[in-house]
Amino acid sequence: MNIVILGAGAIGSLFGALLSKHHNVLLLGRKPHVSAIQSNGLHIQGKTMFHEKISATDTVKDVSFDVDLLLLTVKSYDTIKAIKQAKPSISKNTIVLTFQNGLDNIEKLQSVISKNQILAGITTHGAVFKSPGVVHHTGIGRTIIGELDGTETKRLKNIVELFDEANVPIKISHNILKDIWQKAIINSSINPLTAIFQCKNGYLVENPILFHLVSCLCEESTNVAKSMGYTFTTKYLFEQTIQVINETFNNNSSMLQSVERKSQTEIDSINGKIVTFGRKNNISVLLNESVCFIIKRLYQ
Ligand code: PAF
Repeated sequence: MNIVILGAGAIGSLFGALLSKHHNVLLLGRKPHVSAIQSNGLHIQGKTMFHEKISATDTVKDVSFDVDLLLLTVKSYDTIKAIKQAKPSISKNTIVLTFQNGLDNIEKLQSVISKNQILAGITTHGAVFKSPGVVHHTGIGRTIIGELDGTETKRLKNIVELFDEANVPIKISHNILKDIWQKAIINSSINPLTAIFQCKNGYLVENPILFHLVSCLCEESTNVAKSMGYTFTTKYLFEQTIQVINETFNNNSSMLQSVERKSQTEIDSINGKIVTFGRKNNISVLLNESVCFIIKRLYQ
C-alpha cells in the first residue's frame, strides 16, 4: 500500500515508521524534521525503540505515486490548509483517515474532499517530538477507527490488518463520532487547565481546586454532548477523564506542549466548538468560554 502521513509530528512519525516496515510510506512534515530524517533516518525511542530509514519530504509536490491511504495527523487548525495542499495528490480512491484532536476536523475535510473518502480514528498512544528526527514513544495506548456511518466495511478491515501487521492493535468503532465527542470532552477538561496552570496532567488530580474544575468542565462539556444527541452519562465521562489523567500522570498535555513551544493551540477545535454547540442548544458553557478566553488572552 502507498501511504502518506500528512503532518509527520510525533504520532504521525511513530505510526509512519511502524507502517513502513511493510508498506511504502512517505512522511510529510516540517523542514528540520524532514532534513534530519533524510540524513540520519528516524529514531523512535521509549516504549518502542527502533531506527528506520524512511522517505520524508516537506512538500506535497514529492508525492509521485497513487496514494491509497492518507493519514492526517496535523493540528486541527491546519486541517483545511493541509488537505487543500494535498488535494492534487489525492484520487477518489484515496482513503483519508483523520487521527486528530477536536470536533471540527471532519466538517473541515468535507469542505475539500468527498465525505465517503473520510474515515476517523482516535489514539491514546503518547508520543512526543524530542528533536528533529527523534520521536519519544511515551505511552502505549489504544487505537480505534471507524466509518463515519458506523458500518464495518472491507476498507476498514484492511486498515485494521495493516496496523495489526505493524504491531499497532486497533479496534473497529461502530460509533466513531460519539468516540470523537468522548475524546473531546476529556481533552476539554484536561488540556486547557494544564496549559493555564503549566502543570503535568497528574497535578489535576492532586490539587483539589483543579480537580473540582476538571469535574465542572467535564460536566458542562458532557451536557453539550447530550444536547447534540450523544447519550453519555456525566459519571461515566468523569470516570474516563480521571482514568486518562492517571494513565498520563507524568505527561505534558498537547496544549501545554503547544504553549511551551509558543505555537497555536487546538482550543478552538476543542473547547471553542463545545461553546458553539452549547450556545446553539441553550446549554450553559461559562467554563468552556472562560478557558477559551484565558488561553487566548495568555498565549495567542
Ligand atoms: O491532548 C493530549 O495531550 C492527550 O489527548 C491527553 C489524553 C489529554 C493526554 O495528555
